[in-house]
Amino acid sequence: MSISIAPSILSADFCNLQKDLEAISTADLVHVDVMDYHFVPNLTIGEPVVKRIAEVSPLPLDVHLMIEDPDRWAPHYAQMGAQSVTFHMNAAAAPVRLARELHSMGAKAAIAVRPAEPVEPLFDILSEFDMILIMTVEPGFGGQKFLDNQLGKVRRLRDEITRQGLSTRIEVDGGVSPVTAPLVAAAGADVLVAGSAVYGQADRAAAIAAIRSKAEEAYKD
Ligand code: DX5
Ligand code: ZN
Repeated sequence: MSISIAPSILSADFCNLQKDLEAISTADLVHVDVMDYHFVPNLTIGEPVVKRIAEVSPLPLDVHLMIEDPDRWAPHYAQMGAQSVTFHMNAAAAPVRLARELHSMGAKAAIAVRPAEPVEPLFDILSEFDMILIMTVEPGFGGQKFLDNQLGKVRRLRDEITRQGLSTRIEVDGGVSPVTAPLVAAAGADVLVAGSAVYGQADRAAAIAAIRSKAEEAYKD
């Protein structure tokens, strides 16, 4: 499996989204953060905007739902054509049922773990998911400092995926930059979200290339 880069449009210009989507066309996915003011203390975009992004984006959508009651809302994002839909572990009432519903709609299903949450409770249901998202900041805002205390969690998860013979991907989200990308890739992450490290640079393609090359150097397949 190779490294995928997923720029987060949380750090894009929301008045010029189409231009900012085109600026990241050398990436693999576009990471779309949906927040509801309840699960996290921030509010971003919802269904009408994500639906339009799905229509114009040159890249497949990696939707990250930081919302309460994903059991009810996540299928709407699969319906819009998102390639993958991620919901949070302790937000879902029935994560396995929800993952199966997303799969039945043709989307990939992923589950996210916050910094203080252990990943081990997912080990018995790993095969239900295409991807596990390890948050490397507290969810809610872009531009926060990378939490290197999450690297052990990434390593334990990679070891367990290997032990079970699965091809589950590991996504990391928060504080990923050319400096931290090699750390997460060496620990076993293969989908890297980066918001401020991409949109904070004038040359977005160069920023994506820098994160990709640092991660690829460090990633052991
Ligand atoms: C934070 C979001 C992230 C955010 C990452 O809760 O889930 O996707 O955009 O931003 P950076 O890369 O700036 O930490
Ligand atoms: Zn995110």
